[in-house]
Amino acid sequence: MAIIGGTGLYQLAQLQDVESHQPVTRYGAPSGPVRVGMLAGRRVAFLARHGEGHSMPPHRVNYRANLAALQALGATRVLALNTVGGISTAFAPRALGCPDQLIDYTWGRVSTICEEPGTEVLHVDFGEPYSRSLRAAVLAAAKKAGVPVADGGCYGATQGPRLETRAEITRMRRDGCDLVGMTGMPEAGIARELGLEYACLAIVANWAAGAGPDPDEVITLQDVLDNVAVASAKLPSLLGALLEG
Ligand code: HPA
Repeated sequence: MAIIGGTGLYQLAQLQDVESHQPVTRYGAPSGPVRVGMLAGRRVAFLARHGEGHSMPPHRVNYRANLAALQALGATRVLALNTVGGISTAFAPRALGCPDQLIDYTWGRVSTICEEPGTEVLHVDFGEPYSRSLRAAVLAAAKKAGVPVADGGCYGATQGPRLETRAEITRMRRDGCDLVGMTGMPEAGIARELGLEYACLAIVANWAAGAGPDPDEVITLQDVLDNVAVASAKLPSLLGALLEG
C-alpha cells in the first residue's frame, strides 16, 4: 500500500522503522523521497505529492514519476489524500469524502504514460475512475474506526494554482461536481494506465468559491491549513483500520 499526501500532509507520523528511498524512474524523479515503513503491521510507502517542503505546484508535479516510483517499491494499491474545496453540502470544511467519479478540467499537464514516441498507446477503461475494491476498503475502515467519510461524489480537477472564480464553481456544480481540487488528475488516470488500484480520500479544507453560507467569503491559506489539520487528526485511526483490514 502506498499513500500520497497532499497539501498540509507532508509526513505520516505513525510510520515506524522508516527507510528513505530516492528512486529515479523512466519518467524522472518523484516529488521527494519515498518513506517506507511499518504501519499497523503492514509495509507502507508514503510520498508527499508537492515535496516535503511544498515546493511543487499542482501543474508541475511529476505524477508519472511519483506513481512509477511507488510501483517500483512494490506498491499495488495507492490511496491518494487530496485537499479539496467543498461544493455540495456533504462536503463542508473538515469533512472527509471518498469520491466515485471525476471530471478533468486540467490542461497542459503530462497526462499519460503513452507520451514518448514508440510507446504502446493504451486506451484504458476509465468509466469508473477509482478502484471499487479500494474504495470499499476505505469506507469499511472508516466505519470500523468511527470516522465519518462521505461515500461517493464527483471530484472536479482544476488547473490551479489559483483558486476558482464563483462562476467556475457554479459551472462545476451544474456539471455535477461535489468537490474541487487541483491534483486529482492526471494522477488517477496514470494510476489506471500503470495498473495500480487507486482511490482518493478527499479532505475538505474550505467551501469552494461562493459555495458556502457566506457567498462573499475569501479563502485564506490559514483557513485551509487549519481545517486540514483538524480533519487530518481523524486519519491515523482510519489508516490503521484500513491496513489491518
Ligand atoms: N479549489 C481547488 N483546490 C482546492 C480548494 C479549492 O477551493 N481547496 C483546497 N484545494
